[in-house]
Amino acid sequence: VPALSNMTSPFSNLTNANTMIPRFVHYYEIEIKPFQHSIYPDLSPANLVGYDGISPGPTIMVPRGTESVVRFVNNAHANSSVHLHGSYSRAPFDGWAEDTTAPGEYKDYYFPNRQSGRMMWYHDHAVHITAENAYMGQAGVYLVRDPAEDALNLPSGYGEYDIPLVLAAKQYNLDGTLFSTVGERISLWGDVIHVNGQPWPFLNVEPRKYRFRFLNAAVSRSFSLYFVKTSNAGGLNAKLPFKVIASDSGLLEKPVQTSYMYISMAERYEIVFDFSSHAGQTIELRNFAKAGGAGVEDDYQDTDKVMRFVVSNTTASADTSVVPAQLRTVPFPRPKTRRKIDQHFKFHRANGQWLINGVGFAEANNRILANVPRGTVEIWELENTTDGWSHPIHVHLVDFRVIWRRREGRRVEKYESEGLKDVVWLGREETVLVEAHYAPWDGVYMFHCHNLIHEDDDMMAAFNVTALPD
Ligand code: C2O
Ligand code: CU
Repeated sequence: VPALSNMTSPFSNLTNANTMIPRFVHYYEIEIKPFQHSIYPDLSPANLVGYDGISPGPTIMVPRGTESVVRFVNNAHANSSVHLHGSYSRAPFDGWAEDTTAPGEYKDYYFPNRQSGRMMWYHDHAVHITAENAYMGQAGVYLVRDPAEDALNLPSGYGEYDIPLVLAAKQYNLDGTLFSTVGERISLWGDVIHVNGQPWPFLNVEPRKYRFRFLNAAVSRSFSLYFVKTSNAGGLNAKLPFKVIASDSGLLEKPVQTSYMYISMAERYEIVFDFSSHAGQTIELRNFAKAGGAGVEDDYQDTDKVMRFVVSNTTASADTSVVPAQLRTVPFPRPKTRRKIDQHFKFHRANGQWLINGVGFAEANNRILANVPRGTVEIWELENTTDGWSHPIHVHLVDFRVIWRRREGRRVEKYESEGLKDVVWLGREETVLVEAHYAPWDGVYMFHCHNLIHEDDDMMAAFNVTALPD
């Protein structure tokens, strides 16, 4: 557990007037355990490890403002630490990399769930083995449901017209077992694209609007997603339009219409796709992003394919859902004038290691790179000085606004800046500015590259949100 400044109990807000009123807390138990999954029918199954023995793990859905406690029981063979990515958890429940739970032990995690509606995800964060644990299957969806969002009449019905699509990329050995990330690797791209645990799956849909909640849970692979009619497959010019309605930290201010969407590791984007004019057709979801990284530009044969949607001829009932022109008022509006840069972080490679400002997470005495008084708004400049790799940067605790980016001919995409995020893709030799409000708690939190191989080796550091001055 990291050093905490001025730690108060997460339940301390209950100690005032109504201490005698019992308070309802959602309680879940999830067991981390080995399981097998056959990808190739005639070959050996892959040995995986997942939450409750499935991957993605069970989806947790809680109403906004209701607290939860999740007991993660480690019945696997490796240490675990669980991070609820997107939650402003108190530091002891944030999945600090060294706060590991050994096989045979459990840890109870407390989550406040007071943030606006959003798709978060829980995944392993154990020091040096995060990539391996996540790749083996330790990732699951955690949704905060928000009544304000339900009132918008977006396509709804979880698992029916509102569907999470968790992307991953894996690689298999000739005997059907999983090709492991262990060893001297600096990225793991994976040549078999998975959605919700299945390779290149299809989904039967009706000719109506759907809400799809994308999460990129891959270890190293980013995607540029687009939809195309199968008859036009391969035709980048025939990309079909869709609306992005939410990102990492929930709804955007307004929907953003686009025909492609770049999603790097750990990012979430939610979209509405309308199949109503495609009755009886097959629509493909494809990818035009290359794996990237020095020397692997040509990528694999089928990594341009993701999944397909088989559209029926009729709907079960009339589609009355809508995509309103205004989705919500996003907090912390974009500043009118450019403020000064408060912190500068350089993501780079030196002496065979991935580092931030010359420091790796293993340097316990140096790894707190910033002290931020609680309640402060800061602009952080994130700079990638490597030309062969990109780094999706995740800052724990906060939601930030992406306000500026330079290099690779890219600008901030409208769907990146129309809402708040907790991961920003940092392209090769690119610099990005993000603005965040360092609240609501004090504590030491991690920030890092979400290419999990980079994170393990050692592109992770910490910042300390300090108590308010007297
Ligand atoms: Cu999704 Cu620190 O991680
Ligand atoms: Cu990286």
